[in-house]
Amino acid sequence: MNEEQRLAGQAPATKEKDYSHYFQSVYTPPSLKDAKKRGKEAISYHDDFEIDEHYSGMGIGRKFYIRTFGCQMNEHDTEVMAGIFVGLGYEPTDTVKDADVILLNTCAIRENAENKVFGELGHLKSLKRERPDLLIGVCGCMSQEESVVKKILKTYDQVDMVFGTHNIHRLPAILREAYLSKEMVVEVWSKEGDIIENLPRVRKGNIKGWVNIMYGCDKFCTYCIVPYTRGKERSRRPEDIILEVRQLAAAGYQEITLLGQNVNAYGKDFENETYRLGDLMDELRKIDIPRIRFTTSHPRDFDDHLIEVLAKGGNLVNHIHLPVQSGSSEILKLMSRKYTREHFLNLVSKIKQAIPNVTLTTDIIVGFPNETEEQFQETISLYNEVGFDMAFTYIYSPREGTPAAKMTDNVPMEVKKDRLQRLNKVVNDFSAAGMKPYQGEIVNVLVEGVSKRNKEVLSGYTEKSKLVNFRAPANVIGKIVQVRITQAKSWSLDGEFIGIKEKEKVML
Ligand code: 5AD
Ligand code: SF4
Repeated sequence: MNEEQRLAGQAPATKEKDYSHYFQSVYTPPSLKDAKKRGKEAISYHDDFEIDEHYSGMGIGRKFYIRTFGCQMNEHDTEVMAGIFVGLGYEPTDTVKDADVILLNTCAIRENAENKVFGELGHLKSLKRERPDLLIGVCGCMSQEESVVKKILKTYDQVDMVFGTHNIHRLPAILREAYLSKEMVVEVWSKEGDIIENLPRVRKGNIKGWVNIMYGCDKFCTYCIVPYTRGKERSRRPEDIILEVRQLAAAGYQEITLLGQNVNAYGKDFENETYRLGDLMDELRKIDIPRIRFTTSHPRDFDDHLIEVLAKGGNLVNHIHLPVQSGSSEILKLMSRKYTREHFLNLVSKIKQAIPNVTLTTDIIVGFPNETEEQFQETISLYNEVGFDMAFTYIYSPREGTPAAKMTDNVPMEVKKDRLQRLNKVVNDFSAAGMKPYQGEIVNVLVEGVSKRNKEVLSGYTEKSKLVNFRAPANVIGKIVQVRITQAKSWSLDGEFIGIKEKEKVML
């Protein structure tokens, strides 16, 4: 039986469900120019997603494999796609060789992220040659870029389907088209859609869960591709978020990370409402779940009410990831970050005052076009002044279609690399120094599983995201336990197990 007969056999004579009402956009290849536009139309919310009868059973006897690159948003999108695959009857596999469908869920944030994907596609070519029935798909942020789609069409004929971040719910139709078509199926909408609430999910693990609170970004930092690949800011309704967190709590999850590209803009797109992230956190903290985090923050929209709510503590962890990007107001202006060094330092001091034991971590870009040594030194001095516990540090990577990519740049790559090394030295010194005070202390650890390095040892994270390794019976995995730290290393802590932590009452 060929694919056409197989699908035709399963397809009932009913008309395929029309999902076009979800989106005002048309079926086109990507356009960064269109992706830049921000319409005024209100977001509609839908909860009528279902796997059409036409597709049910498509995956029976077949396995899927998804490789995820990039941020937690992508990890979470992978969970949604896995949910759709399972709904279609596919089984998951973690071995590429066993898979009948392979998806690469890609990241476009820097050039090296993209190169990894092209490398992986290269490796998959021989597998596709051996097994022509195998379907290979590229999705995620890279698919939203015109240049990437053109390159794939031209050079990577092992790819069967390309679809974007706004088309995930269309996976069943895209798969079917790929089975039936000899051509590469490309479906990328440049304009974001509405919010579909009831997409299925297969979550990775049952200890920590991700919950989207908003999609997209309107900040348009001049170096960043995300506003183009993820569309305009769309906030989920508070009641939908609260319900999802409640359900995860009831299912035994111990930690929730609220996700958005710029969570501090949460609620700004609501019509006639002033409900913001602080209000949401104030409701979520009343839910009986031990830890709630959020990522990622933008210093510009981090308001006093949010600080006030976070200071209430309880299950709102005392760790805030607050990307600064640069310590120079001039560079921040060129980056269009819409805050100054002084604004950032002022925000940090407000946070520290309200939450004295807070841990701050950050993201920094070095070697932005024309960054001078003095401006770089301002980043170092800001780092010293704030005393971040950790930072993700990057060399600026030009992204086609962004304003910064058009700037002339007089900073040679060797200088950028040298700055990164010098910054990393400061980052490492602070991280190591931040570990020392833990020596002899008792910490609460959410046990995630067996250590990757040593199977005899369990590992997990503190509220402040410090990795702790210790010996304990395997039945504490998934629980919050107390551990006495015996050795503080540069990047992790070793300790001895004391016992399971007693559940705290939620303080209202
Ligand atoms: N080059 C280098 N780093 C970048 N980031 C975003 N865009 C770029 C780019 N073009 C970094 C920022 C952001 C993090 C997720 O990635 O620091 O906070
Ligand atoms: Fe990119 Fe800036 Fe939006 Fe973050 S806030 S996703 S860095 S544009």
